[in-house]
Amino acid sequence: MSEPLISYDPRNAFIPVHGISPDDLKSIAGALDDVRDEVLADAQLWADGVDVEPAKQPLDAGFHELPDRLLADYRSHGARSQVGRIKSAADRLSGAVDDVVILGIGGSYMGARAMFEACCRHYYNEVPETMRRGRPRIYFEGNNVDNDALLDLERLLQSRGDKWGLVVISKSGGTLETAAAFRILLRDLQASLGRDAAQLGNLVIPITGGSGKLFDLAQALGCQEVFEVPDGVGGRFSVLSAVGLLPAALMGLDVERLLAGAAAMNDHFRNTGPAENIVLQFVGVSHLMETLRGCDVRVLSTWGKRLEAVGLWYDQLLAESLGKQERGALPLTVVNTRDLHSRGQQHQQGKRDKFITNLIVERGTRDAEPIGTSELNQDGLNELAAKSLADVLGAAIEGTNQAYRDDGRPTADVRLPRLDEYTLGQLFQMLMLATAVEGRLIGINPYGQPGVEAYKKNMNAILRGT
Ligand code: PA5
Repeated sequence: MSEPLISYDPRNAFIPVHGISPDDLKSIAGALDDVRDEVLADAQLWADGVDVEPAKQPLDAGFHELPDRLLADYRSHGARSQVGRIKSAADRLSGAVDDVVILGIGGSYMGARAMFEACCRHYYNEVPETMRRGRPRIYFEGNNVDNDALLDLERLLQSRGDKWGLVVISKSGGTLETAAAFRILLRDLQASLGRDAAQLGNLVIPITGGSGKLFDLAQALGCQEVFEVPDGVGGRFSVLSAVGLLPAALMGLDVERLLAGAAAMNDHFRNTGPAENIVLQFVGVSHLMETLRGCDVRVLSTWGKRLEAVGLWYDQLLAESLGKQERGALPLTVVNTRDLHSRGQQHQQGKRDKFITNLIVERGTRDAEPIGTSELNQDGLNELAAKSLADVLGAAIEGTNQAYRDDGRPTADVRLPRLDEYTLGQLFQMLMLATAVEGRLIGINPYGQPGVEAYKKNMNAILRGT
């Protein structure tokens, strides 16, 4: 029996005046289908190494078939495959240390963070090792320039006297935020090893491009394993390469399931017509809400605590991919019900420039806890004693969307039957494909991020006095 796919339901976008109609969506079905063909052709052009027209450069379409290729390789070559090597490196490092610091920024960090928050238990770093199934505590650094935060991490690691290691991720190998944190923590790690300094190369796993400063450093350190960010896979499209898979394996997540979920989404994308294709529907509805109704703020409304970092990963994906040529919708992640008490007012009654897509997990991982009865009923909750927190969340989702609908504020839902590696793999791939599709639809190259270079150039010039 095939496993359920995540689903997309735009019915609450089909409302009068401020919404769109099913006919609007049908009117662009042909265009969406053509763009799907173009995205599939892009993946083929990339795989064939064909020179492409300047407007298509860079063509970082390597992310598309990556899950299928990695899975096929793993299934035929096992431990010798890329996934096999990732799993054994993660097992080896897990066995050697208590803590791992993952260094990286932007696309070299946000996917790992998203998986950590979505798939690992809350308070993961606080629970006993057995509850982490023997996996190390995970910390993230090199994703900002914050002296106090880095010092606090250094002190934490020193104070516990734990064994620790580093995973350093940078495709270019030259990103200053990550490089500076790496240098400082490497110095600490070396000092903590004392006479075992020769161990350094076993406790540092770099993930980087096939050449560059980090690559050279990795050679100089004699790192036991170095993983490559594949060519043709841009940072924000790299979560299902070693960039995300090694951190996931360190957290004890099932990387094969992540890839299988993504491969299932690829299959759906390739073989399903526009009317049922959730990637094309998601793009079509969001695009029409922007072009017909001026909703150029795209709110990803996540429900519950576990999807915030997934939302931030998507913020980066959309902003860096389509925020070019003075165009591109503004992504905004909210976490509800928390943000109903901060942004909710604006979403309910503010400017009609927002299109809200809910990200909903249908079934929690644990049994739902009832509110229960109490002799102290001053809060009046005995009336709700049999209701669980899951019931309260369900009512909040329904009530909020009804209130939006009553005021003519369109929404759509992405539903995950549960939140695990398989559904998250699907969601990552769905959103990456959607971003590529939308880029082609509106004539913006979704790959590359030339605008990010400006601040880097200035920062380096200021620091080096050039
Ligand atoms: O999506 C991207 O390409 C960027 O966000 C990069 O991931 C980010 O700038 C970090 O770059 P690097 O991996 O080269 O250190």
